[in-house]
Amino acid sequence: MIRRLACLLMLAAAGSVAAEAPIPGTEACATCHPAETGLHARTRMARAMTPALESAFGQNLPNQPLREAGDGYSFVYRRTLSGIEVAAERGGDRATGTIEWVLGAGVQGQTPLVNTGSGRVAESRVSYFPQLHQYGITIGQTAGASANATAALGWMQAGRDLQACIGCHSSAITRDLQPVIPGVQCQRCHLGAEEHLHDVAHRPSNPGKLPAPEQVRFCGNCHRVKPPVDDAQLENVRFQPLRLMKSRCFRSGRLACTTCHPAHQDAVRNQPAFYNEKCLSCHSSPAAHRDTRQAGDCIGCHMPYVQLHPALRFTDHYIRVVKPGDLPAGVIRQRGTGG
Ligand code: HEC
Ligand code: HEC
Ligand code: HEC
Ligand code: HEC
Ligand code: HEC
Ligand code: HEC
Ligand code: HEC
Repeated sequence: MIRRLACLLMLAAAGSVAAEAPIPGTEACATCHPAETGLHARTRMARAMTPALESAFGQNLPNQPLREAGDGYSFVYRRTLSGIEVAAERGGDRATGTIEWVLGAGVQGQTPLVNTGSGRVAESRVSYFPQLHQYGITIGQTAGASANATAALGWMQAGRDLQACIGCHSSAITRDLQPVIPGVQCQRCHLGAEEHLHDVAHRPSNPGKLPAPEQVRFCGNCHRVKPPVDDAQLENVRFQPLRLMKSRCFRSGRLACTTCHPAHQDAVRNQPAFYNEKCLSCHSSPAAHRDTRQAGDCIGCHMPYVQLHPALRFTDHYIRVVKPGDLPAGVIRQRGTGG
């Protein structure tokens, strides 16, 4: 029996029928919408969850065991036909688990889900950071030696947390939380896509047609509109909707995610002119600047890069005049150094 993940979304009510039908994947859309399907397949959202053996985590495993700092547990990985087996061990203390799925497209970081038996699943203590070509402690978990072998496998997830975790990184799961359609695929943004498959006249929802503030909240179902801790956390820069909503630009009621992010594509990088044009569509009269900044890189000054971790960099979507001391100087990064 299949349960559709749409229930995490605000517009979900419409899609809760037909629970028993097999869920069609993106291939069902390709015949009539080849352009959108081809573009979307190349995005990071489409690859937000991958089978362990195909992931960068699974393909770069070193021959020597990895070990925690402070004389902690060591981790031994073994690739099998269906996934990766992991053992955490120190002296006689040993715990094992299996990894079928890895979260994150592998651009910033990749974190496995470790099945520790009898339906219990942990967020792995070890992640892979492709840009650094390094395995390390998962962001959010504390470094150093673990208390015991089971704890070394990772953070045990309560059912609700696991459902949320897989829910943001996939498009449909079974009742026992097995992903049926991994990654953020068509029907996750276009609710009613299955009815549309049976009758094309039944149009699925299109977030491009939502008023700007509603679209921002729609994307915010996964990218977040509420701070998990409080408003003072630097980590909140990774929650683009939350930050964007603070901007005076947003309060115009006309600024949507799709103003700057064409649907079915990753963020446009290393093309300042692309964004300048968006800014100037609202800020041309009177000219935003009467000096040379007029021809400069608007986002470079008004949407700086923020480095949260050696492997994690985000764009501050709170569009504003960034004052000295607003953000710790050490985390602000210049643009133009690659993607
Ligand atoms: C048999 C052909 C066919 C298939 C298969 C199909 N569509 Fe469509 N789709 C259409 C047609 C026709 C339209 C209307 C186009 C128009 O009027 O411009 C449409 C429109 C849409 C729209 C625009 C809705 C709007 O109001 O803006 C979306 C989104 C969409 N389809 C998504 C999907 C998804 C997702 C799938 C796969 C689950 C899919 N379609 C499968 C034919 C198809
Ligand atoms: C079902 C949850 C979900 C929804 C809904 C969603 N996203 Fe995402 N999005 C993700 C995840 C997960 C990632 C991270 C993919 C990765 O790197 O693993 C992501 C990544 C992105 C990226 C980054 C790609 C890059 O260049 O790094 C952009 C841009 C983006 N989403 C925009 C949007 C927009 C715009 C919307 C609304 C129209 C939206 N997302 C809706 C989950 C979602
Ligand atoms: C509320 C939705 C949501 C939940 C819950 C969630 N993620 Fe994500 N995750 C995202 C989005 C959106 C991104 C991309 C942008 C970002 O990093 O904020 C992302 C990015 C990632 C990345 C890429 C590296 C990084 O940190 O950006 C990894 C790895 C990841 N998530 C793992 C997990 C794991 C493991 C869980 C559960 C234990 C989880 N996520 C729960 C939405 C979510
Ligand atoms: C992260 C959310 C997201 C996902 C996933 C997604 N779309 Fe879309 N889609 C959008 C948005 C936003 C628009 C509106 C674009 C606009 O109006 O600027 C859109 C528009 C469309 C349209 C209408 C295009 C038009 O010119 O009116 C079609 C058709 C479509 N999507 C099909 C698909 C198909 C097929 C897939 C899967 C392969 C898919 N979408 C996956 C967000 C998404
Ligand atoms: C949809 C229209 C729109 C877009 C697009 C837009 N803005 Fe704005 N922005 C506004 C409005 C409205 C205000 C409020 C001030 C005003 O009325 O001039 C504002 C205010 C600002 C301010 C002053 C903020 C403050 O707190 O004093 C800055 C700086 C700014 N925008 C920069 C940008 C940049 C840079 C971009 C492109 C990345 C951009 N804006 C895109 C509408 C927009
Ligand atoms: C005013 C333009 C603008 C708007 C509106 C906007 N973005 Fe962005 N976004 C950017 C820029 C610029 C980048 C960084 C591109 C680069 O890396 O140079 C970016 C990058 C991203 C990324 C990649 C991770 C990061 O933080 O660098 C995600 C995810 C994202 N945006 C999601 C969203 C979502 C969701 C919305 C709507 C709530 C949104 N954006 C609205 C301009 C915008
Ligand atoms: C070199 C950094 C820099 C660049 C590039 C830059 N700005 Fe600014 N901007 C500032 C500063 C600093 C201020 C604060 C007021 C001032 O010093 O003029 C500001 C103020 C603003 C304001 C608010 C004006 C007001 O009256 O409140 C807007 C709107 C704005 N910029 C838009 C833009 C746009 C659009 C671009 C790209 C065409 C851009 N900026 C490029 C640094 C920059």
